Amino acid sequence: MKNAVIVGFGGMGNYHRKSLAKEPGMRAYGVYDINPEKMKVPAAEGLHLFHSFEEVLRDPAVDVLILSVPNNFHHDMAIQALEAGKNVISEKPVALNSKELEEMIAASKRAGKIFTVHQNRRWDTDYRIVKKSIADNLIGKPFYIESRVQGSNGVPGDWRCVKSSGGGMLLDWGVHLIDQMLYLVKSPVVSIFTHMLSIRFKDVDDNFKVLLRFENGLSALVEVDTWCLIPLPRWHVSGTDGTLVVRGWDNSGEIVRVKERTEHWEPGIVYTAAGPTRTMAPRPIETIEKLPLPHVETDELDFYRNVAAAIDGKEELLVKPSEALRVMNVIDAVFLSAKTGASVACHI
Ligand SMILES: NC(=O)c1ccc[n+]([C@@H]2O[C@H](COP(=O)([O-])OP(=O)(O)OC[C@H]3O[C@@H](n4cnc5c(N)ncnc54)[C@H](O)[C@@H]3O)[C@@H](O)[C@H]2O)c1
Repeated sequence: MKNAVIVGFGGMGNYHRKSLAKEPGMRAYGVYDINPEKMKVPAAEGLHLFHSFEEVLRDPAVDVLILSVPNNFHHDMAIQALEAGKNVISEKPVALNSKELEEMIAASKRAGKIFTVHQNRRWDTDYRIVKKSIADNLIGKPFYIESRVQGSNGVPGDWRCVKSSGGGMLLDWGVHLIDQMLYLVKSPVVSIFTHMLSIRFKDVDDNFKVLLRFENGLSALVEVDTWCLIPLPRWHVSGTDGTLVVRGWDNSGEIVRVKERTEHWEPGIVYTAAGPTRTMAPRPIETIEKLPLPHVETDELDFYRNVAAAIDGKEELLVKPSEALRVMNVIDAVFLSAKTGASVACHI
């Protein structure tokens, strides 16, 4: 059982505390937060309280640090911890840009310690449904994927609306959705176009759409909106044999696919609710079938189990630094496209 110290005991620090209570290969040994008020709950639970970051690094009983501090602190704290011989799990976004992340990866290689990122949304049920549907060929070859999250409350009024703290939705939710997409589509990204706005929070992005084109011909739209009162589906996937939709966090949705790939054109004009049109006329019902979304089982605690096993040299990391670097390279290009208004050619 590895001893973990949670650094930063806010919303996500509490999440880690609850997850580690199930002892998935590691347990919460202690906590450090710069704000003493935040240490009251872990104190009541009998966790070891650290009063400085350096004190955490000096304690030989500590195996792994979980950095759940605001985004701008991840880089320096991870490097310090790795140099002190600790293993490190960083919250997402692991860094503010790829240069920072390259320095962190170099520090982990020098130290020979485990370094990974809490990309927990790889374990989300909606994502696993899409991944399984594609892997099981339920909609044929996918050619266009839309992945979006849309809230209606704006950006939480904390460090997330401050640019210098690593605020903004690209680094917040964008990093999850891009990580999912790169882990789903096994092909290099060859062009990136961004539409990015600051609608209600002028210092940071609070609404963006990113169009990713992959070398294998597939395109993907990744969208995050914080001011939308009528949300579009969480996932909409177009394949050569059908369409998949996952509507929202309740994972409702379905697959509709053709029974045969042949077209059934009526000889003349067709009169539809949309007026006279053959192109947009509904498909004859007997040519399509509706499938329920496949059932998937996921356990987000596998993330911690894997890190504990990787520390013992028994498993390869599931969230590899090289994968995190790919995500950060895409994010750099997304910001560049937002700044220039042009698409960025790349090979990521
Ligand atoms: N993986 C996920 O699904 C997910 C979800 C939410 C947040 N996060 C990430 O977790 C991190 C924290 O987010 P949060 O929502 O918990 O924020 P938060 O503001 O709720 O908590 C941050 C905590 O860090 C403490 N802190 C700030 N500076 C510190 C320092 N220098 N040293 C020690 N403690 C310090 C604050 O006092 C606070 O208690 C962010 O990187 C965020 O992106 C990840």
